[in-house]
Amino acid sequence: MNIDDIKREFPIFDDKIQNNDLVYLDSANSSQKPRVVVDRIYDFYTKEFSNVGRSVHYLAVAATNLYEQTRVSVQKYINAKDKDEIVFTKGATEAINLVANTFGQKYLSEGDEVLLTELEHHSNYVPWHFLRKAKNIKIEFAEINDNGEVTLEAIEKKITNKTKIISVSHLSNVTGAILPIKEIVQLAHSKNIPVLIDGCQGAPHLKLDMQDIDCDFYAISGHKMYGPTGIGILYAKKKWLEDLPPYQGGGGMINEVKKEGITYGELPNKYEAGTMATAQVIAFNESIKFMEKIGIQNIEKHEKELLDYGLEKLRKNNSVNIIGNPKEKGGVISFTIEGVHPHDIATILDEDGVAIRAGHHCCQILHDKLNLPATARASFGVYNTKDDIDKLDESINKCKKIFNLKWT
Ligand SMILES: Cc1ncc(COP(=O)(O)O)c(C=O)c1O
Repeated sequence: MNIDDIKREFPIFDDKIQNNDLVYLDSANSSQKPRVVVDRIYDFYTKEFSNVGRSVHYLAVAATNLYEQTRVSVQKYINAKDKDEIVFTKGATEAINLVANTFGQKYLSEGDEVLLTELEHHSNYVPWHFLRKAKNIKIEFAEINDNGEVTLEAIEKKITNKTKIISVSHLSNVTGAILPIKEIVQLAHSKNIPVLIDGCQGAPHLKLDMQDIDCDFYAISGHKMYGPTGIGILYAKKKWLEDLPPYQGGGGMINEVKKEGITYGELPNKYEAGTMATAQVIAFNESIKFMEKIGIQNIEKHEKELLDYGLEKLRKNNSVNIIGNPKEKGGVISFTIEGVHPHDIATILDEDGVAIRAGHHCCQILHDKLNLPATARASFGVYNTKDDIDKLDESINKCKKIFNLKWT
């Protein structure tokens, strides 16, 4: 695949940002958007707009068909068994909240345990914390090892006969560790425990096959997959969507509403209350097509090459301390430079047009464990090149000069 051609599909790279060519190394936060996605939003609003699933006029029916086409595209993309297992949400955060809330309501009571890991994003901790407060459940954390990964053994160690659900990341947004999710699911299922995977960082970079992974729930963030903001996906096995209560109430999710009571809509409407992010869902179909056109295996291969090149380069830069060394790792490099606060690193890099993220990356538990208040993080997308990594390295050297560090 030709990265220059791919990069040209992203309008953000057409112009200079503050007089610099943009070196965008913040895709784990959110990816840039290809022209096809942006154009699809514009076209929908200017030529095809209507709300979906309500009126019977031409535009409404056409918009509903487009909206449902995205559902089928997602189903195929992740190899779910049924299109009704795809629920649109406003993001992965909402997808996880949906599961925590509905599963918690029905299946968790005082003393029950939810098993997470120490590397979870706040989106996969805070919703469970709400249940800890409301229902007096316990939250257990499988530990990371010195490489910044969570092994199957670490998960197994924390499972007890009170564990009611396991909820873990596919790929850490800090150390880049890829968790053995298939094995975790097999282990959990052998003990009758359902598994939710936070796939925010997995879905943009790794081939997904829900039937093969066999997880019960998988949360996806559209804006990290070259898609618009405001769209996420909850994949859930049909048996769960049928079994669990609705999440939010309102129009669209009901069947019959009477003063005496209410019956709920069929799947997946039961979980899509109110007017949804119609334009974003429709435009997300273009993100899927964009990724399919390149091929996820090619994306994976390209990002692995960037990762290997980046690790080699930054390891040679002897003031840089790379966080974690997982055997299976995605395109994320978190690092610190002794004597320079990560926010200063990010600010100085930004002067050269190198956009990275600094902070705790919504993973405070992990940073506490690492005894670090913050880290700097470079993360890759399909548009990145080795040149971008060279610029990152050069900019880090400039940063060292500014702080007058002794390393060369
Ligand atoms: C691992 C992980 N989980 C959850 C989220 C939240 O996703 P969203 O922005 O779609 O709510 C993120 C986003 O940063 C993430 O990296």
